[in-house]
Amino acid sequence: MTKNPDPLYYSDYLELDKILGAQHPKSGNKTDEMLFIIIHQAYELWFKMIIHELDHVRAIFDTDNVPDNAGEMSIATHKLKRVVRIFDVVNRQVDVLESMTPMDFLEFRNLLLPSSGFQSLQFRIIEAKLGLKMDQRFKANYYKNTRPGGFSQRDYDAITGVESEATLKSLIIKWAERTPFFDESLWKDYQARFPGGEDIHKFWSDYKQIYRNSLNGPVEMRQLDELDRVFYKEGLGEFSVNAMRAVLFIMLYRNLPIFQQPFDLLTTLIDIDEMLSQFRYKHMLMARRMIGMRVGTGGTSGAGYLEGALRQHYVFKELTEVSTFLIERSNLPELPRDVMEKMSFNS
Ligand code: HEM
Repeated sequence: MTKNPDPLYYSDYLELDKILGAQHPKSGNKTDEMLFIIIHQAYELWFKMIIHELDHVRAIFDTDNVPDNAGEMSIATHKLKRVVRIFDVVNRQVDVLESMTPMDFLEFRNLLLPSSGFQSLQFRIIEAKLGLKMDQRFKANYYKNTRPGGFSQRDYDAITGVESEATLKSLIIKWAERTPFFDESLWKDYQARFPGGEDIHKFWSDYKQIYRNSLNGPVEMRQLDELDRVFYKEGLGEFSVNAMRAVLFIMLYRNLPIFQQPFDLLTTLIDIDEMLSQFRYKHMLMARRMIGMRVGTGGTSGAGYLEGALRQHYVFKELTEVSTFLIERSNLPELPRDVMEKMSFNS
């Protein structure tokens, strides 16, 4: 074997000269500002990886047919689980930054004006690719500001550009809407528990009754109107009635082998939302601890803005709301043979 005349070298491969040469504190407080810079850079590197994984998953779902029992589905879930793990790691970085005291931060805070993490393009792209829209954001006008403190025009265009692409949320909704399990022809042999219900589909007619019987007292009984609205009339948020029915069905019958992957996928999306909230929560506490009730360097109200974003910026809220409408497993209707066959891996 001929020897490579120019063997690969660790630092060349990783281009460490660029990465390690990119920390330039602006103040005399070199130690804490160095920590501040490195933490932000580490976040941005991980954000890059998250975007990469989200793009892969979006590509998997950007088709009219994601075969649930083929590898694609498990690759998508695996990638999303990696995203959850990355968030877990980056969220813990806040603890390291909190080793800086508020007065250490004040030594260089004013030198950062009017820049802020608010302007993190990659963070906004993650939110946008998942499915958070500009107009659904808390204080949407902050985002449209392209003056100092807001986004550069180029970044603003990049974010709105991503918003106009298929988001992970919209692709998941389409995938849910395509589930074939409610085709009337599969339900011929279904034994209705409450025959003569108002819904033409026997299962959904039964479900309403079973759910009604599971509610306690007049206050909980109001939930029945919500069930009607979400699963029979309007849908919820961006999820149509059919998408909501599919999600509920998957959650109800998640023990059936063919639903294990879809259930895992839906649960992982909920995990991602939870991880993002944890980021927002920990970051908000850290910001409060560092700057109290001062405004942010980016010009928002600071802690007030961060609290609003935490409250409002859930992407997959519809999925967690399904839990409101579950029933006891022991009360689940038995599925007819044709549906079971359709749900078997061999179909
Ligand atoms: C001393 C530490 C920090 C303080 C005091 C702080 C403070 C703030 C404040 C007040 C805001 C609101 C926007 C503004 O007016 O500036 C903000 C936004 C933000 N910061 Fe920080 N931050 C700190 C560290 C970090 C770190 C390490 C990251 C990691 C990337 C980060 C990422 C963000 C992001 C993504 C936003 C937008 C949040 C959203 O819109 O939900 N921040 N920060």
